[in-house]
Amino acid sequence: QEIFLKNYKVPEYYFDTVDLKFSLGEEKTFVHSQITVFPRVEGASSPLVLDGKDIKLLSIKVDGKELKEEDFYLDPRHLTLSSLPSTRFTLEIVTEIYPQYNTSLEGLYKSSGNFCTQCEAEGFRKITFFQDRPDIMAKYTCRIEADKAIYPVLLSNGNLIEQGDLEGGRHYALWEDPFKKPSYLFALVAGQLESRDDTFITRSGRKVSLRIWTPAQDIPKTVHAMYSLKEAMKWDEDVFGLEYDLDLFNIVAVPDFNMGAMENKSLNIFNSKLVLASPETASDADYAAILGVIGHEYFHNWTGNRVTCRDWFQLSLKEGLTVFRDQEFSSDMGSRTVKRIADVSKLRSYQFPQDAGPMAHPVRPHSYIKMDNFYTVTVYEKGAEVVRMYKTLLGSEGFRKGMDLYFRRHDGQAVTCEDFFAAMRDANGADLSNFLLWYSQAGTPLVKVTSSYNAEAQTYSLKFSQEVRPTRGQLVKEPMFIPVAVGLLDKNGKDMPLISVYHDGMLESVKKNGQPVFTTVLQVKKKEEEFVFSDIPERPTPSLLRGYSAPIRLDSDLTTSDLFFLLSHDSDGFNRWEAGQILARKLILSLVADYQQNKLLVLSTEFVHGIKSILSDSSLDKEFIAKAITLPGEVEIMDMMEVADPDAVHAVRNFVRKKLASELKAEFLSMVERNRSSEPYVFNHSNMARRALKNIALAYLASLEDPDITDLVLHEYQSATNMTEQFAALAAIAQNPSKIRDDVLADFYSKWEHEFLVVSKWFALQSTSDIPRNVENVQKLMKHPAFDLRNPNKVYSLIGGFCGSPVNFHAKDGSGYQFLGEIVVQLDKINPQVASRMVSAFSRWRRFDETRQNLAKAQLEMILSTNGLSENVFEIASKSLDN
Ligand code: ARG
Ligand code: ZN
Repeated sequence: QEIFLKNYKVPEYYFDTVDLKFSLGEEKTFVHSQITVFPRVEGASSPLVLDGKDIKLLSIKVDGKELKEEDFYLDPRHLTLSSLPSTRFTLEIVTEIYPQYNTSLEGLYKSSGNFCTQCEAEGFRKITFFQDRPDIMAKYTCRIEADKAIYPVLLSNGNLIEQGDLEGGRHYALWEDPFKKPSYLFALVAGQLESRDDTFITRSGRKVSLRIWTPAQDIPKTVHAMYSLKEAMKWDEDVFGLEYDLDLFNIVAVPDFNMGAMENKSLNIFNSKLVLASPETASDADYAAILGVIGHEYFHNWTGNRVTCRDWFQLSLKEGLTVFRDQEFSSDMGSRTVKRIADVSKLRSYQFPQDAGPMAHPVRPHSYIKMDNFYTVTVYEKGAEVVRMYKTLLGSEGFRKGMDLYFRRHDGQAVTCEDFFAAMRDANGADLSNFLLWYSQAGTPLVKVTSSYNAEAQTYSLKFSQEVRPTRGQLVKEPMFIPVAVGLLDKNGKDMPLISVYHDGMLESVKKNGQPVFTTVLQVKKKEEEFVFSDIPERPTPSLLRGYSAPIRLDSDLTTSDLFFLLSHDSDGFNRWEAGQILARKLILSLVADYQQNKLLVLSTEFVHGIKSILSDSSLDKEFIAKAITLPGEVEIMDMMEVADPDAVHAVRNFVRKKLASELKAEFLSMVERNRSSEPYVFNHSNMARRALKNIALAYLASLEDPDITDLVLHEYQSATNMTEQFAALAAIAQNPSKIRDDVLADFYSKWEHEFLVVSKWFALQSTSDIPRNVENVQKLMKHPAFDLRNPNKVYSLIGGFCGSPVNFHAKDGSGYQFLGEIVVQLDKINPQVASRMVSAFSRWRRFDETRQNLAKAQLEMILSTNGLSENVFEIASKSLDN
């Protein structure tokens, strides 16, 4: 059943207070809920429809009286109450649930013996009957009762106001959350946990207790998470003036969790992999992810919790904004340019394909069957780009004014994306014209730019044209409002001062405070539009879309030599990297064409030279160098082809890597030499940058399959004192099949078999491998004692990882498709959310040749013909087929 944004209706009833009592048990759990209800319109007598799924109704009382049979109606998804009082009343419902059998990891479930919850988006209805929608905001209390020996720790939202012992070895805790919240932010945890405790004093002097809860043996691995939390709290005060609003903030790490983490009010629940880290077991990438996600969930306290979404179509209102905030936080804690590069790469490799495929949807979707399927890179990452564009258009101060107004207007409310837009606009008196189209039109805009210089008039013209291709259910598109940040480089590579621009027959000054600027933001709003810079004394090289100022595909008339020029001179770090990427994409694409025509592959010396000059530029940041010498991903390249050819792209990309490695072997060897360190592990930018550079050099070298290099890599593996370097060396060795590969993989497993998170890495390293016929190895690993189909992390590592190797997943014999098809059917019976994420790997099947198309299509049809398929998988599989 499909749900549409245009059918949104305000609720007939609101809830004022919700008092929950849980009696947790091994066989049965009882949930008693007492709600004060009031009708939106006094005296109206509409039925009250409550959501409820997979729960057993024991009793319903209205104002203390048991409800009569004829006054309620129960169906598999709802409980409908009629003949209700026409003014405020009390509703009491008792349900019985079985968390121990809940493998969907949604609602109340058990994870390694402990009880925990995940309610977003619609999991609360698996706990009790409720109006399970975010515009129902109420004040909650929660009393938890459980066996004291098995569940010594009892947590819920807000403040602990009472606790004590009960008979029969049981105990209880009573929690009260003073802030109104929607049901999706409710949380409960009960189990054997210990905490790392710390405090944070807010700028207005509130002393906040911080607690991170894990099983006792993991406490030493929570140092970095605690550091991240405190930094996040400080940053939100400094940058947005936002303070924490309670005396207690809890984080709980659980090993079984569908997503990354959840921002439940004052009781964040996290996937352990985003909390636990030690230098020996976690890599730099893990440390960075923990920093970002701890920040993300903390930032939700204002953007999500204090101001929430009216309905789930507005999800990006909180997620796009909060991703933007965590990106900014991580930038400020590390290197802004490198963070921007990483975020744009993610957008290109995951969001662009989604926007061009059958699951394409706007940042604010128009409809869904299962909301869980819309926690997507479009809502999150493209949504964050949309927020970033406000900042680009309004400036830092203007953006802050908009945020302040947003909170002033909407604190305590459930609102829409228009409300955010209006706050940005009104706080700045800005004309944002048709900017809202970014929320409603799916598809990545394609922008073409042509340039010309008029020496006589000393003007330089940029002509833009834009197009958004049709997407599912949206055939005709309007032109978008695209902010294009531009700078012009003179022949020495310096930024020219920009003074004014002719546009629409008017000469507009671009000066700021009377001074010329070096970057200006052009507002491209029409299908075709021209901007002419005045006072340009020589033909410039344009640096377009600086900092990636809009989530578009840009096609410009820059020549290869312009790009090399930008690569070595652009003052905008992002565009320097970008110039190298454009060159690499062009190069790989033309080599792919040669490969397909059986021509001999030759790598241009100019390109080798370009890479070499980056490598040897000591003025550059090391992490930047590591990014700049990383070739664009295979998916990114396949995306630019008429018919995606995974074998050709793989062969060519490997050819380029290997060729670069042999041409620059001496440079790479000295990079390894110079970037070793015997100091203990430190998580900071300079050390991460050093390790990143050393590790990428090692990866290039290992592609040579040279025995001396194998010895070197093995030495790095054995001497590593942290996971970042150990794992990078392991990955380097694992690139190609060999006896040594097998031995080192086995050695790594025996070292780390007791570390669940490291074992997941070990699975992922093998599953993502491009070695021929890897599907057989993955099938073997499915039977490995450490593998468990019920644990999402293991599934994402082994099965998700396998789908990340285009040559193996898209193997021409269909073996990859068949493997995934069978798993999806099995997995769907255990955990529909995880199954549906896996089935998405099929969604771009039309991009491939006919043989592959038929094989993939057959699997999608097989999945759809399965009895008892979940709505989650049904939605993705059916949309993939019928586009
Ligand atoms: N709100 C969570 C976050 O921080 C994600 C919740 C995901 N829930 C789901 N059903 N997919 O992004
Ligand atoms: Zn979020």
